[in-house]
Amino acid sequence: MTDVAVEVASLSKWFGTFLALDDVSLRVPRGCSTVLCGPSGSGKSTLLRCLNGLETWQEGEVRIAGTRVRSRPGDLVALRRRVGMVFQSFHLFPHLDVLANVSLPPRINLRLPRAEAEDRAHRLLAEVGMAELARMFPAQLSGGQKQRVAIARALAMEPQVLLFDEPTSALDPESVGEVLDVMTQLAEHGRTMVVVTHEMGFARRVCHEVVFLSDGRIVECAPADRFFSDPASDRARTFLGQVCR
Ligand SMILES: Nc1ncnc2c1ncn2[C@@H]1O[C@H](COP(=O)(O)OP(=O)(O)O)[C@@H](O)[C@H]1O
Ligand SMILES: [Mg+2]
Repeated sequence: MTDVAVEVASLSKWFGTFLALDDVSLRVPRGCSTVLCGPSGSGKSTLLRCLNGLETWQEGEVRIAGTRVRSRPGDLVALRRRVGMVFQSFHLFPHLDVLANVSLPPRINLRLPRAEAEDRAHRLLAEVGMAELARMFPAQLSGGQKQRVAIARALAMEPQVLLFDEPTSALDPESVGEVLDVMTQLAEHGRTMVVVTHEMGFARRVCHEVVFLSDGRIVECAPADRFFSDPASDRARTFLGQVCR
């Protein structure tokens, strides 16, 4: 078992002739959380999507816990067990209740017996403060509650890495805090996380490292306290001036 949970080496990705990721390299040690930030269109979502095989790329290599990510169908199933993803817009199954949303992925993908999968789901729902709402349907929940269910669902696969793509951007202001609290708890419990967010307070308080992307390139990669107190690049300084108002 390697201590590097995520390793990206010289990754380049084009959409047609457009270079969306330009020679990107980064490492996330096991147990650490990294924030990916940068202007809109800088390639943050594309990079996250490469990490769990939702995108292919032309050059470079991605390794999750030492295993190379390839986009062959058989490999993707194995990859999805190791990498959990939480999206801005939740992507819950609307026709299933909360318990089924969380217990179904391990039943299908890990062939866990129903009772075991539901035990696990109840435990995870308690962890994200949703124990009381296991029998509700997504339409009955607030945005913050839906996102906490989505986090529990990602955890149900016992992934080695959790990816978050702007998990609080679609939420009303009251819900943002409750989701960030859950994410803080996960980071403090030593989960490996890669988080795309504009919540710079959270990034500074909770995350170990910041990767700043611009035009598909890593402009800066620094420990969080250093990045926020003394960004090395003008572009990062300008960006922080815009988002930290
Ligand atoms: N499927 C796609 N086809 C063509 N261009 C894309 C596609 N997805 C993203 N892009 C482009 O790649 C760039 C990076 O996008 P994205 O990773 O979504 O940025 P971010 O998440 O940082 O806002 C943008 O210019 C976007 O328009
Ligand atoms: Mg994005």
